[in-house]
Amino acid sequence: KKTKNQMLVIFGASGDLTARKLIPALYNLYKGQHLPEKFVVLGTSRSFMTDAEFREKVVSESDFLKSKLDKEDKDFIQQFTNQLFYQDLGDNYTDSYANLAKRIKELNEEHGTEENYIFYLSTPPSLYESIAKNLCDQELTKEDTGWKRIIVEKPFGYDLASAKELNDGLHHYFEEKQVYRIDHYLGKETVQNLLVTRFSNSIFEPLWNRNYIHHVEITNAETVGVEKRGGYYDKSGALRDMFQSHLLQIISLLVMEPPINSSAEEIRDEKVKALKSLRVMKDEKDILENTLRGQYVASQINGEKVKGYREEEGVDPDSTTETYAAVKFFVDNWRWKGVPFYVRTAKRMPTKVTEAVIHFKTPHHQVFPSQDTYRQDNKLIIRIQPDEGILIKFGVKVPGLGFHVEQANMDFYYSDLDSAQVMDAYERLLLDAMQGDSTLYARADEVEAAWNFVDPILKCWKESDAVTTFGYAAGTWGPKNSDELIAEKFGWRNPGD
Ligand code: BG6
Repeated sequence: KKTKNQMLVIFGASGDLTARKLIPALYNLYKGQHLPEKFVVLGTSRSFMTDAEFREKVVSESDFLKSKLDKEDKDFIQQFTNQLFYQDLGDNYTDSYANLAKRIKELNEEHGTEENYIFYLSTPPSLYESIAKNLCDQELTKEDTGWKRIIVEKPFGYDLASAKELNDGLHHYFEEKQVYRIDHYLGKETVQNLLVTRFSNSIFEPLWNRNYIHHVEITNAETVGVEKRGGYYDKSGALRDMFQSHLLQIISLLVMEPPINSSAEEIRDEKVKALKSLRVMKDEKDILENTLRGQYVASQINGEKVKGYREEEGVDPDSTTETYAAVKFFVDNWRWKGVPFYVRTAKRMPTKVTEAVIHFKTPHHQVFPSQDTYRQDNKLIIRIQPDEGILIKFGVKVPGLGFHVEQANMDFYYSDLDSAQVMDAYERLLLDAMQGDSTLYARADEVEAAWNFVDPILKCWKESDAVTTFGYAAGTWGPKNSDELIAEKFGWRNPGD
């Protein structure tokens, strides 16, 4: 696809995401010759900086670019950073937007970006609407000359009501087709590959239903704690931070019906339908039975003392915010009737891994003696990260006398492909937005459907005295009682088992 000449305006450009993710992604796109011939980036935020200071800042704050400086041509990096500009917004927003608009127009004329603008909002969501309004007041949202797009970062809202408000707010100034809601998990190659695995193979799809699948399990584990984001995280918690967005995106791709074709609207229509078919938990009893929240407490990992969550900077010492969330739910539609889904996400686990495991039913009649042990069941493991790939676990005969069965693996790893140049999620997503492809961006109704499922859980967790936040030692697989939620013979499958 051809990428048209354009300008990318980043709000919140002095923040951490710009240096850590956006600029390295743009650099890689530049290096891979994916950027259009005429392209500039204009960073903006409250602080004052000159263009030169901005260029220096993004390089010095990006470990990625810094590491390139030693190995690669300095001139090449400079050629890239020459396309970066900066304009401050100051505190007085009205005049500042006029200045910003003026700068955009000047840069557009100097650099031939044809009035095609992407506004990337890497700011708190509370600013989205006012930024959109100001852009509209400056006549920067109309598409009569050049297109205009707006990318917004997660979190998209705090609950269903605030997500709806945000959508309504943005829709005052931008049409839905101009809005790109980022979820960086959709930029991951293996998440996209879920669609291909399911819908381009005739060996999986016929089995992808309640007749053959016993249960589905998803694990998202991180080894890190809350790092420097205690202030944000303590108001969010794992359910909002990971489950509502990234994990429900993965779930929608696992659950959805085949789309008619691969267009953005067809795929997203099916994802919305999938999200709407998740059974919403109705009362406290339901939520107590089907969810579990936990919080890491201080422990020793490899001989080193690791802080508990409540001792982290920015975290309330009495906080009950969860760093571990597990949810069991059902999907109320023809395909999935009666199949339980178990999903957990947590920080400070023993390893970093994200994987979905499809557990198939045992054959109806068991012929071989060792076949009745549950671990012998067929499993399809979709490894989202790290060691991206797909594994099938199936029974084989143990050589020798009798008919003893044991499990063997059939595996595919992306790293084995010759063409294994996996694009970083931000690179892929930015390029898609530049090309006007919103397939891998969440649509308004999709985000609302996801919040609709999560909302009652959040509300009950907040309000009910019956909900406990269970402690787990940092570096372990979660609260001791976490296996009770997964009412399956062998509990959770911890990667490596
Ligand atoms: C972010 C969350 O969206 O995703 C973080 O806010 C989390 O808390 C991160 O650490 C995980 O992303 P990844 O790509 O490392 O799995």
